[in-house]
Amino acid sequence: MTPRLSFIGLGPMGMAISESLFRYGEIARPLVLYNRTREKAETHRLSLGGDCRVADTIVSAVDDSDVIWLCLQNEEAVESTFQAIFSTDIQGKIFVDSSTTSPEMADSIAQRVLEAGAEFVAVPGRNTVDLSGEKPGAALLLKLMGNFLIMATIETVAEAHVFADKCGIGTKTMEKLMRAVFPNPPHALYNDQMLSGEYFAGKPLVEVSKALLLTGHVSEMAKRCGASVKIYEIAREHLKVAKEHEGPDADITAIYGAVRVESGLPFRNDAES
Ligand SMILES: NC(=O)c1ccc[n+]([C@@H]2O[C@H](COP(=O)([O-])OP(=O)(O)OC[C@H]3O[C@@H](n4cnc5c(N)ncnc54)[C@H](OP(=O)(O)O)[C@@H]3O)[C@@H](O)[C@H]2O)c1
Repeated sequence: MTPRLSFIGLGPMGMAISESLFRYGEIARPLVLYNRTREKAETHRLSLGGDCRVADTIVSAVDDSDVIWLCLQNEEAVESTFQAIFSTDIQGKIFVDSSTTSPEMADSIAQRVLEAGAEFVAVPGRNTVDLSGEKPGAALLLKLMGNFLIMATIETVAEAHVFADKCGIGTKTMEKLMRAVFPNPPHALYNDQMLSGEYFAGKPLVEVSKALLLTGHVSEMAKRCGASVKIYEIAREHLKVAKEHEGPDADITAIYGAVRVESGLPFRNDAES
């Protein structure tokens, strides 16, 4: 039987995931949407163009579906949403959570969901890694490691371009090298974002304010397990500088601007002026 699906949490990620599920997923219609701020759910329903409905409460969104997919901002949001969820009968349902939480929280929620007779799947990122046999928290741990890779890559690309600029070879030539050695995302994406000036002028890939919260978790995790993550800490400091210059909605690739300032260059490159 085609499963009925409810989607809870319609920020940028939740909207993108629910749109993909709506357009390409094998799910029963209507798709049920729920968001704390109802207006956003209504706007999203209209943008999807029909065959969706907005639930009044979390409980009704859960009661009306077989699969409940969540994408919430933080642990507080996940905890309060699951408190509402546990107030209704969830036996036989499947909960898929794309929120970023600590691994410990994912394991604890999963345990409570299992005890209530339902299933829990942690899907915190876009990439598929087989974690069969592991606890759900392993997916969150890996997601945080993925964030480490992203931040370290942005820092590397930013420093490479500033180095090229300062030593006289120039960013255009560095771009050619970058395209030859790392032609694919993520390097290619960050390369474009920086040299085109999108890092200060474009729509953010991820806002620095959100990145700072997430990177705080990763730093804590590294501290707790005794891992040295110096490149990550440097990137995190650069995020703070980016926020000071361009505000909380600046893009994470504005790390480039921070490295430029540290090297005696203006925050913004010539792409705009
Ligand atoms: N954005 C990205 O590029 C990205 C990339 C990878 C992973 N993620 C992860 O995906 C998740 C969602 O990201 P996002 O950018 O879509 O998040 P977001 O817009 O900040 O928040 C998502 C939803 O959480 C709800 N929410 C916040 N606090 C709540 C509370 N106390 N109780 C109930 N609902 C609450 C918000 O409802 P309201 O509308 O009422 O505020 C919003 O709809 C996060 O965990 C994030 O770390 C995001």
